[in-house]
Amino acid sequence: MLELTDVEVRYGAIRAVRGISLKAEKGELVALLGANGAGKTSTLMCIAGALKAAAGTIRLDGRDVTSATPEAMVRNGVATVTETRDVFPDLTVAENLTLGSYIRRSDRAGVAEDREKMFALFPRLAERYGQPAGTLSGGEQQMLVIARAILSRPRILLLDEPSLGLAPVIVDQIFEMIGVLKRSGLTIVLVEQNAAKALAVADRAYVMRLGRIAASGSAAEIGATTDLGALYLGG
Ligand SMILES: Nc1ncnc2c1ncn2[C@@H]1O[C@H](COP(=O)(O)OP(=O)(O)OP(=O)(O)O)[C@@H](O)[C@H]1O
Ligand SMILES: [Mg+2]
Repeated sequence: MLELTDVEVRYGAIRAVRGISLKAEKGELVALLGANGAGKTSTLMCIAGALKAAAGTIRLDGRDVTSATPEAMVRNGVATVTETRDVFPDLTVAENLTLGSYIRRSDRAGVAEDREKMFALFPRLAERYGQPAGTLSGGEQQMLVIARAILSRPRILLLDEPSLGLAPVIVDQIFEMIGVLKRSGLTIVLVEQNAAKALAVADRAYVMRLGRIAASGSAAEIGATTDLGALYLGG
């Protein structure tokens, strides 16, 4: 469904991503692991169309989308949850969710149905429906940005470090919810520092190191053969 071939991302002279190839089949959850600075976020932003590939190709269902804009990628069914959890702080939870469903605003019944599903999945969001998003806790903001992404009814969800800086109990809730989304048939690319948790929900994983793929395989293989501690010490 999603296929990257020899993709490079550069920031001026810095080659952050040095020719990586990876794919995600329909319904697969693919984890992208690696130390700080390995190039995970750059890879994800390149898929989302927010960064241009300096080389290589990105294909979606066989179609070349390498030069697509971020807006075109959203219309192509790719939703992105960034590391920075950008909620609109002055808008309420409900208004933030409405922005997520903007591209399918003519489908009112479908949107209402998905909204109810999200509130069932995240009761905390339902309770805080009319509250400004800026006043939510970090974990609640993470739930909100994931729910907002889902309301665009994507075919592929790109998640960048959803557990970063959250309390263990909230991390468990987020991962439980990622499992629910996966079982619903959504294709997910998950960037995570928490390798053990990511591998527990992933089908396959890629390990990035210095802008390259250092290892890839089933989640079980990567869990068994990769020193996950060393990974995050830059090893
Ligand atoms: N806007 C930028 N300008 C210059 N260099 C950048 C920029 N963004 C990222 N880089 C560099 O590109 C490399 C890869 O960064 P990236 O954010 O993709 O890594 P990452 O794997 O997501 O790391 P982390 O786990 O810390 O989020 C790093 O060396 C980083 O310093
Ligand atoms: Mg990152």
